[in-house]
Amino acid sequence: MAEDDIEKLLYFKTVVKEILRLYPPYPLLVPRQTIGKCYIREHEIQPETLVFVNAWDPEHWKNPIEFWPERFLDSAIDYRGLDFEFIPFGAGRSGCPGILMGII
Ligand code: HEM
Repeated sequence: MAEDDIEKLLYFKTVVKEILRLYPPYPLLVPRQTIGKCYIREHEIQPETLVFVNAWDPEHWKNPIEFWPERFLDSAIDYRGLDFEFIPFGAGRSGCPGILMGII
């Protein structure tokens, strides 16, 4: 088996995703401080407020505390920061630049 073959191991990839979903190494990502007043949904956030993003939200998942890699088998949900229910590497401009290395 060569390193390139890992790409073909579909079930293995779901296991990696499930580990990152259930045990995200940085569940609160990296704290941010607001520059000016802003809104998150209906919440008004004052300038210079420290904001923590909770990357582990059980409400988005069926049987959230079960280790069940199959949940990712027929799913396009990915950890690259576009599916906000699954952001173990954060998202946006300050998202983790080491995703590929981290996955390896
Ligand atoms: C499984 C492995 C890893 C996980 C789960 C992880 C997760 C994270 C998270 C959650 C953040 C904050 C993102 C945010 O707040 O939006 C972050 C930032 C960062 N990560 Fe990783 N990381 C991993 C591996 C790596 C590796 C291997 C590198 C470098 C080779 C790396 C370099 C960085 C850097 C430089 C930042 C700061 C980015 C910035 O603030 O602009 N990470 N990572």
